Amino acid sequence: MKKEEIVVMLNEDLEGEHGAIIQYLTHAYAMGEGEMACEIEAISREEMRHLDWLAEAVVGLGGMPSLQRGKMRMEGKTVSDWMKNGVLLEEDAISLYKKHIEMIDDHTIKRLLKRILSDEESHHGDFAHFVDKAVKEGAKDLRGDHKGKETDILNWGIEHEYTVVLQYLLHSYIAKNEEMKKEMQDQAVNEMQHMGWLAEEMVGGKGTPRLEHMGVDKSVKMSDMLKADIKIEKEVAAEYDRAAREVADAGLKKLLTRIRDHEVYHADVFSDLLKEVEK
Ligand SMILES: [Fe+2]
Ligand SMILES: [Fe+2]
Ligand SMILES: [Fe+2]
Repeated sequence: MKKEEIVVMLNEDLEGEHGAIIQYLTHAYAMGEGEMACEIEAISREEMRHLDWLAEAVVGLGGMPSLQRGKMRMEGKTVSDWMKNGVLLEEDAISLYKKHIEMIDDHTIKRLLKRILSDEESHHGDFAHFVDKAVKEGAKDLRGDHKGKETDILNWGIEHEYTVVLQYLLHSYIAKNEEMKKEMQDQAVNEMQHMGWLAEEMVGGKGTPRLEHMGVDKSVKMSDMLKADIKIEKEVAAEYDRAAREVADAGLKKLLTRIRDHEVYHADVFSDLLKEVEK
């Protein structure tokens, strides 16, 4: 089997992981802060690790990781409907991984997919369990239709954070420099936290988080990647700063200021890296 053919399959798997992450996060955020929401977020973090491994494997085969988002199952109105969707999405993943394990002849890739498959089988069981638990515990959709300046700011922030998570992950996969890889991964994790904070703040105020992203920088030269990353960090730090001054709610002001400080830090870290790379 040609490398290019394996890359196509791995990217299909990767897109599935991306869809799963966003489906599960959407539902976890909508449920607030209970134990079940935490467990679902933990599953979503495992999907992120899968995405990571698959992307590294794609790059290892000379390919480019796909940033397309695969299928999501978002229909249904109750938490137990959503959990059933989780069961179904895991079934989709399980059958796709089985098919690819069957087809791919590369020993290392096969082993990786088997490792991921065993996680998906475990997730499948978790979601099946959550279907009943949701009914028993009376888990509810805590989102609301509140709209206003605050919800606009929060959704702007979520859109930005989702975009940079993808951008920094992509840059970490492409970068050859180990330090840059590590920094990019670290900052991506931090941006993911920001996304969660903003989404939870939104649900607390009875709004609905919108998990969509903007265009991602696809430079391949390290200095170009870093320049794009510094630019976006500086822009959003200024934007968070402006938003923090604009909002009246003290808790939201504090949150936006805290995120702004992180973004200023990211811009500094990337600027230092750029200096090193350009040396
Ligand atoms: Fe997965
Ligand atoms: Fe899964
Ligand atoms: Fe951020």
